[in-house]
Amino acid sequence: MANDQSSPLPLLAASGLCKSFGGIQAVKEASIEVRQGSITGLIGPNGAGKTTLFNLLSNFIRPDKGRVIFDGEPIQHLQPHQIAQQGLVRTFQVARTLSKLSVLENMLLAAQKQTGENFWQAQLQPHVVAKEEKQLQERAMFLLESVGLAKKADDYAGGLSGGQRKLLEMGRALMTNPKLILLDEPAAGVNPRLIDDICDRIQAWNREGMTFLIIEHNMDLVMSLCDRVWVLAEGQNLANGTPADIQTNSRVLEAYLGK
Ligand SMILES: Nc1ncnc2c1ncn2[C@@H]1O[C@H](COP(=O)(O)OP(=O)(O)O)[C@@H](O)[C@H]1O
Ligand SMILES: [Mg+2]
Repeated sequence: MANDQSSPLPLLAASGLCKSFGGIQAVKEASIEVRQGSITGLIGPNGAGKTTLFNLLSNFIRPDKGRVIFDGEPIQHLQPHQIAQQGLVRTFQVARTLSKLSVLENMLLAAQKQTGENFWQAQLQPHVVAKEEKQLQERAMFLLESVGLAKKADDYAGGLSGGQRKLLEMGRALMTNPKLILLDEPAAGVNPRLIDDICDRIQAWNREGMTFLIIEHNMDLVMSLCDRVWVLAEGQNLANGTPADIQTNSRVLEAYLGK
């Protein structure tokens, strides 16, 4: 289990986030904190605003109001790709993979900012570039192995199932060596046999220093994986605490049972 006491400053801290779509206030004054080294959960009934909150944290959607601090710096003024370069990456509830490329090519493209893209270096130091490409390829295959897709490396990504595409997206996110990875329902649509493997991998990556924020409906998974859980209902913070606190919190139970 992750050590969530290791750092006094949260790796990610958002406060006062608001977002309306027309008449619908999807997120209302929401806050969240993700401690360095933690596996933090974000739960809430359907339509609670969880995905919108992810979009606000990663600036895929601009907030009407609110603040997001990542690794000590405000990030709202940055584009999503710049935020990714700072080490905050996210996956989508419906995976976004490039279907006409192979699984391996999808992985390599995720790490595109590496030296191989530099034309002059390719001309002047081809051996350096070749070595880096080989290392990237090895890392890609290692990550594909850990998400159970190594045998599909040469298949078109378009031929993968929805669940496999989610695994590929997780692999793509990891190719960038992020500090924090936001996973939107990583287990949804994934073969139950694979879910345990994915949990093991998330824990292993966490032990290697990666921090996670995970939206997930599978409560067993949330409760076994996360060291802290934030609950959103109707766009607002309802509770946060340890999995044990959350499971017995009457306001949370009411929100889920719709009383
Ligand atoms: N782009 C959008 N345009 C209009 N309404 C949206 C949009 N995205 C989300 N919503 C609405 O915002 C609310 C929260 O949605 P969402 O963040 O997807 O919830 P969750 O991920 O918790 O299920 C819902 O009422 C949804 O219909
Ligand atoms: Mg969602």
